Amino acid sequence: MRNIIIAPSLLSADFANLQKDLDMINESQADWLHLDVMDGVFVPNISFGMPVIGAVNRVCKKTLDVHLMIVEPDKFIDDFHKLGAQVLTVHYEACTHLHRTIQRIKALGMKAGVALNPHTPISLLEEIIADIDVVMLMSVNPGFGGQKFIENALDKVARAKELIIKKGSSAIIEVDGGVNLETGKRLIEAGADALVAGSFVFNSANPLQTIKDLKAL
Ligand code: DX5
Ligand code: ZN
Repeated sequence: MRNIIIAPSLLSADFANLQKDLDMINESQADWLHLDVMDGVFVPNISFGMPVIGAVNRVCKKTLDVHLMIVEPDKFIDDFHKLGAQVLTVHYEACTHLHRTIQRIKALGMKAGVALNPHTPISLLEEIIADIDVVMLMSVNPGFGGQKFIENALDKVARAKELIIKKGSSAIIEVDGGVNLETGKRLIEAGADALVAGSFVFNSANPLQTIKDLKAL
């Protein structure tokens, strides 16, 4: 059985009581903690930023997986590194000089991820796939938790896997949006290596058990 990375998304946590949710994450079988940074420009929503991530880093024992849904991410790569990001993902659609962005993330010792919006084809990664550590496929339009899974993401996972093999890349495939036990199982069958889950974990009656169930898929 492959080891699938489970990354609960803090976006659906209780922001009035983050300590409680972070204690739960620390205790859980989660591999990464997914942190969604939104700027109100790249996506139609604003989430949280630097001070929150710094505070989370002081408490959280899991790998911090930071998903930047912001324009001009290059401006903040060094800041997110200092704040404790270990995986830093930028959007393909937000980067004019993606190769340079990726190199900077890796030079700082972080894993470099590239996220694709639902409409962005896998083929656009052809010239960069060998340089990146994580391909993040959005299975919802980014900006909000709790949205419906877009079925086309399953085919994209399979196509991303083909490209990774063809180019001899060591990138892993992470899927973000609408993940639950049913979509998660199908994504793993299609070749996903990492699953982000926000509302499914934090809105469940027993988040610890839900993470365990995802891990057992
Ligand atoms: C959406 C974010 C996701 C979000 C997923 O823009 O990138 O990480 O938290 O939420 P769910 O799992 O509820 O779809
Ligand atoms: Zn995300």
